[in-house]
Amino acid sequence: MFSSRLPQTPAPNALSGALARLRERGIPYADLTESNPTRAGLAYPPDLLRSLADARSLVYEPAPLGLPAARHAVADDFRRRGVTIDPQRIVLTASTSEAYALLFKLLCDPGDRVLVPVPSYPLFEYLTRLEGVEADTYPLEYDGAWEIDLEALKRVITPRTRAVLVVSPSNPTGACLTRRELSRLAALCAEESLALIGDEVFADYPLRPRAEAAKSVLAQNLALTFSLGGLSKSAGLPQVKLGWIGVGGPPALVEPALEALELISDTYLSVSTPVQQAAAELLAWGGRIRGQIAARTRASLDQLRSAVARHPACRLLEPEAGWYAVLQVPGTRSEERIVLDLLERERVLVHPGYFFDFPREAFLVVSLLPPAEVFEDAVERMLPRLE
Ligand SMILES: Cc1ncc(COP(=O)(O)O)c(C=O)c1O
Repeated sequence: MFSSRLPQTPAPNALSGALARLRERGIPYADLTESNPTRAGLAYPPDLLRSLADARSLVYEPAPLGLPAARHAVADDFRRRGVTIDPQRIVLTASTSEAYALLFKLLCDPGDRVLVPVPSYPLFEYLTRLEGVEADTYPLEYDGAWEIDLEALKRVITPRTRAVLVVSPSNPTGACLTRRELSRLAALCAEESLALIGDEVFADYPLRPRAEAAKSVLAQNLALTFSLGGLSKSAGLPQVKLGWIGVGGPPALVEPALEALELISDTYLSVSTPVQQAAAELLAWGGRIRGQIAARTRASLDQLRSAVARHPACRLLEPEAGWYAVLQVPGTRSEERIVLDLLERERVLVHPGYFFDFPREAFLVVSLLPPAEVFEDAVERMLPRLE
């Protein structure tokens, strides 16, 4: 009855069972997987969303790529990050996830393929499958810093490959694309007629930036390129539903891509008028939330680093940016066993590396977003149990 594009519902496993039991019994636990900023104890000004009630929104003027003022506001926000883009090359979306869906519609026939990094963000499986697209993986290697294995990436290109996805800063590794990686990737994409899609939702959260980091995938003009972002991360407002695509590359490709995106977006018109009218103000006010998140994630990382230094069997894989940190821990037990043990005995929930397709065990991923008192206490209880 239903489409084969639907991914399988994840089967219950030992971890989801243990978590359900704790919840049923009302037993509290420290959630170091929390990635929802609105549940992280940040101080959101009560009138932060007042601009959504602007009377201008009582008029509906459909604009498939977005209202001009909102596209200007997003272009200004790119400029804040040191990236210059013409507002005409901005496409508004309801979220970054929706941006992926629009881009797969633009670039892929059913059965076409895109390249996604591993380890990486688990939603890619769903985002691709639901558009009838297949995901092939290319490896990120850690050797003091994460790098794209470009030779391995080239080997998975097939005649049906349409795009290379990069997540920079990466979820969960926190790695950023270097300028050298960007120019090599862009040259490869141009040569193979592939689009380059850069998920830059965490670009506002540097932790230990490297001088070689590229500012954006838009910092080259060789390949047809899409930079994805949104209020969800940049202003800690996932519930407001405003994302964007910045389009770059050779004008001969950018112009038809924008025309086609206009047609696709016109079919849905999914971005609400109130959020577009409010975009400039939300982007400006969002700085207050962004500042709190940036301070929180930096403080959590400092605390984690000094705690890990007291437990030499564990290693922190230093993130350059983003909201997460990866720990390498002794692999004497499976990741599932370790995570269950932490939950059942210490009441601390962390993500196992396999959730992000780490190629081997044992890695744990922690969110740097929880309030300091929750984070510090959980880390102090967790580390001795990992040795
Ligand atoms: C790397 C990455 N991209 C995109 C998203 C989704 O963002 P949005 O809420 O704008 O769909 C997330 C959410 O966690 C993410 O981690």
